[in-house]
Amino acid sequence: MAKDTSFYTLGIETSCDETAVAVLRGERELLANIVYSQVDLHAKYGGVVPEVASRNHLAKLPILVRQVLEQVSLKPSDLSLIAATYGPGLVGPLLIGLSHGKGLAYGLGIPFIGVNHLEAHILASRLMDDPVEPPFMGLVVSGGHTSLVEVPAFGTYKTVGSTVDDAAGEALDKIGKMMGIGYPAGKEIDRLAKEGNPQAIDFPRPMMTSAGFDFSFAGLKTSVLYHLKKHPREKVEDVSASVLASVVDILTKKSIEATRRFQMKKLVVVGGVAANSHLRTQLTEAGAGKGIRVTFAPIPLCTDNAAMIAATGAFRHLQLGEAHELSLSPQPSLSI
Ligand code: KG4
Ligand code: ZN
Repeated sequence: MAKDTSFYTLGIETSCDETAVAVLRGERELLANIVYSQVDLHAKYGGVVPEVASRNHLAKLPILVRQVLEQVSLKPSDLSLIAATYGPGLVGPLLIGLSHGKGLAYGLGIPFIGVNHLEAHILASRLMDDPVEPPFMGLVVSGGHTSLVEVPAFGTYKTVGSTVDDAAGEALDKIGKMMGIGYPAGKEIDRLAKEGNPQAIDFPRPMMTSAGFDFSFAGLKTSVLYHLKKHPREKVEDVSASVLASVVDILTKKSIEATRRFQMKKLVVVGGVAANSHLRTQLTEAGAGKGIRVTFAPIPLCTDNAAMIAATGAFRHLQLGEAHELSLSPQPSLSI
């Protein structure tokens, strides 16, 4: 279908603890992108409490939808498509966004499409100023996922490796908790690591040299736990730098190897951990050394947002002719 500049998609994301809405024109023109983060509400529990997240999505979502439409001077009746995440994620939070999206679509008499959050992280790359076109290897690295996904074309995906236990961001968040850093800890570990010595502690690099492209981060977390028990006065800066040295080495080695093995020239890195400054530097340099162009989405498109949900919904609807029935249920374990 030809690009229709008057085609407006409202994107809704509520799979975890971010309530996010966005409006997209056509397939790639992002008009507004609002993210309300609930992290402060969950910080005191050291992680996301699903019931608290659901209640807050429910309270915030209608307000944010009104706000985002006001920002772009559109009326609900100007919308052409509603796209909402239907998985993977926490079932309660997913249900709130999905039901709200389906209700809007039904009320407005327009199509509805459920979006796979993992595909959306990859398609966030379509919204960049200089978008990367397939074929490319995608590294989705976030609080919930660490996967290497071969992308021969948008809409076609093959997972070539993923974590066998914790996601990279999940491990960083748990390690941060051990160090007394607030939740989520990834950003603070990134900052602290700049003041620390990455060689101070020789943490393991689990599965870094194993065959295949799967990851494991649970063993690293356990090593940090034992190290901190033995050395309670270790500088947090040195622990952060040494932990990140391990995580970044693993992500770099596996993703460059996978890109080469599948004969790709481009690697696209998305998800919350893609915001990490050490990963950005090391992976870009490693790629350059092997003739691979490594692209990171801009930080607001890396962490959870609804722009990527709108972009994926618009792409699947306009290019592949897809829409969902309103009977679509949340799928907490949806894979790509
Ligand atoms: O993509 P995202 O917002 O949510 C999920 O889908 O999981 O990713 C959140 C994760 C958290 O684990 C957080 O600690 C991590 O991304 N993160 C970072 C950084 N910023 C966020 N990890 C390392 N360095 C960062 N700068
Ligand atoms: Zn995510």
